[in-house]
Amino acid sequence: MNIELKYFSGTGNSYKIIDTCKEIFIQNGNKVTLSSITDTSDINEKTDLIGFCFPVYAFGIPRICRKYLLDLPEFKRPINTIVLITAGDSDEAGLSVEESTEILKKKGLNITYSEVIHMPSNWIVSMNPPPKDEAQLIINIGVKKAMKIAQDVLDSVRHHHAFNYPPRYSKLGFYKDYYLFKWIGVSSLWRNFRTDDTCDFCGLCEKICPTDSIQIVDNKPKWAKTCEQCMRCVNYCPKQAIFQKGEGSTKGKNIYYEPTFKPFKK
Ligand SMILES: Cc1cc2nc3c(=O)[nH]c(=O)nc-3n(C[C@H](O)[C@H](O)[C@H](O)COP(=O)(O)O)c2cc1C
Repeated sequence: MNIELKYFSGTGNSYKIIDTCKEIFIQNGNKVTLSSITDTSDINEKTDLIGFCFPVYAFGIPRICRKYLLDLPEFKRPINTIVLITAGDSDEAGLSVEESTEILKKKGLNITYSEVIHMPSNWIVSMNPPPKDEAQLIINIGVKKAMKIAQDVLDSVRHHHAFNYPPRYSKLGFYKDYYLFKWIGVSSLWRNFRTDDTCDFCGLCEKICPTDSIQIVDNKPKWAKTCEQCMRCVNYCPKQAIFQKGEGSTKGKNIYYEPTFKPFKK
């Protein structure tokens, strides 16, 4: 089979999961291409299987992923397609699977497998990611799950993730957070990124931003409206100097990125 895999990843979880699937597909004699949705390459209409892996952001998919899916052409054949979502809590994936699969079905694709994979939370501005050893245990379980998913897909197993309301939320609270982030949070919270006085303008944040949304201006990082709040800059900052106004400093919190991820690779 020819397989095309696409992902978006701030801190490497979604990349790790889709890359694990890629390895299993290759070991079983398939030809696989893996690329970020920020690459401009189109999906080959002749491919036999398409796979997507995205993180969940406030119960939905990141705006950049939604736009990417909506901009896909209509497919002439119902190519088998898998959708994998990485989540900081497997019970809190919200509508991320549904958002993705609904768009893809309208594009004429045949969704054969969808699943949520629990990976460590990277949302350091709003919560505290798990400490390193705990994070590694979660990653190990996530990787095992990805291996099984890839094998299932090769064995033509069909599976669809079932929606659940996050147990910690009321229905009202769930929809409030979902719509607030989707319609207001994404378009405004990037304005709240700040650096404290330990920032030494090293420029790493500018270099590694997956959406090219950071520029060093007058010795200070400045975020642009294309920022997805993926948390890569915050978690990789060597000084832990980046924070979001209103949420307080990230100093003293556990930073998180998937330890094998190379952030220069988009
Ligand atoms: C802005 C933002 C919102 C998030 N919202 C959720 C959420 O609603 N539910 C959840 O389980 N995890 C949430 N997370 C955690 C990420 O989905 C999770 O850590 C994901 O695996 C990160 O993937 P990545 O490393 O590929 O970017 C959120 C993270 C960010 C940055």
